[in-house]
Amino acid sequence: MNDYSPTPADKFSFGLWTVGFQGADPFGAATRPDLDPVRAVHKLAERGAWGVTFHDDDLIPFAASDSEREEAVSRFRAALDETGMTVPMVTTNLFGHPVFKDGALTANDRDIRRFALRKVLRNVELAAELGAETFVAWGGREGSESDAAIDAHSAFERYKEGVDLICEFIRDRGYGLRLALEPKPNEPRGDILLPTVGHVLAFIERLQHPEMVGVNPEVGHEQMAGLNYVHGIAQALWSDKLFHLDLNGQHGAKFDQDLRFGAGDLKSAFFTVDLLESAGYSGPRHFDFKPSRTEDEEGVWDSAAGCMRNYLILRDRAAAFRADPRVREALEASRVTELRRPTLAPGEKAAELLTAKEDFDPEEVGKRAMRYERLDQLALEHLMGVG
Ligand code: GCO
Ligand code: MN
Ligand code: MN
Repeated sequence: MNDYSPTPADKFSFGLWTVGFQGADPFGAATRPDLDPVRAVHKLAERGAWGVTFHDDDLIPFAASDSEREEAVSRFRAALDETGMTVPMVTTNLFGHPVFKDGALTANDRDIRRFALRKVLRNVELAAELGAETFVAWGGREGSESDAAIDAHSAFERYKEGVDLICEFIRDRGYGLRLALEPKPNEPRGDILLPTVGHVLAFIERLQHPEMVGVNPEVGHEQMAGLNYVHGIAQALWSDKLFHLDLNGQHGAKFDQDLRFGAGDLKSAFFTVDLLESAGYSGPRHFDFKPSRTEDEEGVWDSAAGCMRNYLILRDRAAAFRADPRVREALEASRVTELRRPTLAPGEKAAELLTAKEDFDPEEVGKRAMRYERLDQLALEHLMGVG
């Protein structure tokens, strides 16, 4: 009997800022005290997590001196050594300090852009030092509240300039890091540049080193834009660009809820896990959520454990769905499997297709039923545990 206990082999990772979230929101102050990163590492390891990620400022306060920086990193490193936890990803806080109120890599003020890039490069060094494989860039403040305030063409030029520079730096230093850009449609800016997975994929093609850059899609961010997360990560996988991902929960198009994974659109979570497991995604299962401000520290650990447990339950449910002979039959009946077959015969040309004599009666074929209702019901029943 599976008790859904996570182990490091499941590759679950958490941001320090997730379990460390103190509960401040635009309407109220923090409801929880500060959480020591060292304590976070130990608590996550005890619960079966494999990795921990962070923004530079989560570990090293913004204004820290060099010696304070060294001290913070060495305490953290000791906790990693004691627990065997890894650091698969590191990211930079380019949104918290007032200096970034108008953006970082695309701020109108050039000296702010230069400062932001120095902050990133310094953090790239730390990421490499800790053995991270992925460097996430979330441009939360890259955007505007008014189109009058932004020369969007130049903003994309500057965004590209910044990302190209980071890639050059990684190459020059010989680091094994890849970059993953994280889309989000809005919040904290009224509108954020690179709002969806599709925008990021298109942007990557214009970069100097597109092979080094992928996407870090977050469940809630695609859903805030009313989009289908499963389709988004499917396209990223198809493009070999799913370098990392942020799992959490969201109820439709509203503010960024950052609920624990599984809360929110559960059916989409089921198909997300189904896709990740069946497509052979081997990267971290990273949770980027915010434990509700109603909770004390115990509630924080409950919600972190809930993220992992929900993933494992859904993994089990998705495997049962795929293994069910009724499902296999239903997939055939709905011709889902037929989509794998190329539309053209090997070597066939458009001109040959145009003149092909095929016994095809659109009136008759238009009557073929797809039987998706049966298939979808089977999925729902497996999800509900009665499959
Ligand atoms: C959000 C974002 C952030 C980023 C993180 C990485 O919820 O708005 O997901 O949490 O993922 O800051 O830089
Ligand atoms: Mn995120
Ligand atoms: Mn979010």
